[in-house]
Amino acid sequence: MRILTSLLKNTNPKIEYYSRFSPSPLSIKQFLDFGRDNACEKTSYMFLRKELPVRLANTMREVNLLPDNLLSQPSVRLVQKWYMQSFVELLDYENRKPEDSRALNDFLELLIEIRNRHNDVVPTMAQGVIEYKEKFGFDPFISSNIQYFLDRFYTNRISFRMLINQHTLLFGNDTNPAHPKHIGSIDPTCSVAEVVSDAYDTAKMLCEKYYLDAPALKIEEFNMKAPKKPIQAVYVPSHLFHMLFELFKNSMRATVELHENSKEGLPPVKAKVTLGKEDLSIKISDSGGGVPLRKIDRLFNYMYSTAPTPSLEPGAVPLAGFGYGLPISRLYARYFQGDLKLYSMEGVGTDAVIYLKALSSESFERLPVFNKSAWRHYKTSPEADDWSNPSREPRDATPPDTNTKKSSELPHPVGSPPFLASL
Ligand SMILES: Nc1ncnc2c1ncn2[C@@H]1O[C@H](COP(=O)(O)OP(=O)(O)OP(=O)(O)O)[C@@H](O)[C@H]1O
Ligand SMILES: [Mg+2]
Repeated sequence: MRILTSLLKNTNPKIEYYSRFSPSPLSIKQFLDFGRDNACEKTSYMFLRKELPVRLANTMREVNLLPDNLLSQPSVRLVQKWYMQSFVELLDYENRKPEDSRALNDFLELLIEIRNRHNDVVPTMAQGVIEYKEKFGFDPFISSNIQYFLDRFYTNRISFRMLINQHTLLFGNDTNPAHPKHIGSIDPTCSVAEVVSDAYDTAKMLCEKYYLDAPALKIEEFNMKAPKKPIQAVYVPSHLFHMLFELFKNSMRATVELHENSKEGLPPVKAKVTLGKEDLSIKISDSGGGVPLRKIDRLFNYMYSTAPTPSLEPGAVPLAGFGYGLPISRLYARYFQGDLKLYSMEGVGTDAVIYLKALSSESFERLPVFNKSAWRHYKTSPEADDWSNPSREPRDATPPDTNTKKSSELPHPVGSPPFLASL
């Protein structure tokens, strides 16, 4: 165990070496152009054999900054082991020439293996957070660090899978015959309204299974550029589906629970898709009673929402589970420079808006970089609350200690031992 611990704690020079490189973000347009013009497997291989270890190493160094009490949870250790194994296996290709066709085939198979190995990273990390919370309780400082970390860690994972999927779909045998026009996982003419209704239909089936009823859907479109044309996006339909499916599940649950016994029946859930010069926006509106403003931020908080879920029969999909629906959907939206926001009116209902970039040349991957300021984030204590708080006990008004170290005096993380002590 000690050997594994020391291996996982940064002493591996290769992790340190690769983490010194910043990941290279690609735009949807770049993914598309590369995949369209006689995509070259050798070029993709040369790029990925460096870029994948870089992205892994960046995130692995950040894992090491987590509090010891979290790192020592069995689920977190398991995730670390997967990352280490994948990293080491990728290093086998550092010196294998792309002219060797065996290398290309082996690499492709390895990518599929890695993708499968990492399938359960999200629920396993969530389990780690539950294990931690059960033992050590809720702490706002730890929660804010976990929030910062998991947003970056899961974004890294989304990006890692995006790269793997593009390569395996373009050069492997798992091309999807149902979608010959897709370039890897990207649909260059993705009909947004179609994805909206697919996601609605899937959520509806789930909702009917649990509640024996589901609200209807009303879709509206507004295309500012070409009012008569249906709105199309250059996007990854599976990402869009994921976000919309989560929003529909939430809206349906809120609607049914509020109106279950009402004589008027269930009010519909509305979807509005709009295309402007800069934004492609999708609003999902429900009349499910809304959420008070005070609670909105915490709906995106991993540590708040992670509650032990009732054990399910294998294969059963819950309508509401870990509480990761919203935070992970927001990461998908942000990954290509969009966003996801909730606007709610307590007593009435909620509008959830997904913002995407209208232009694929502006949809660059938004990637976490392990560097000095990321490192500092884990190290510095949270700012003392400098706004009044009605629930606070009276406090003494002594000015803060002026001897505290300025963040600019902190050493650079690269090459220095990881900070682990007080987190
Ligand atoms: N449209 C909505 N109306 C009312 N409450 C909502 C709405 N959307 C989200 N919520 C509240 O936010 C919480 C968190 O939503 P989120 O989708 O992140 O997790 P969840 O639905 O609890 O679980 P899952 O991981 O299965 O999605 C929900 O449990 C619900 O209480
Ligand atoms: Mg949900």
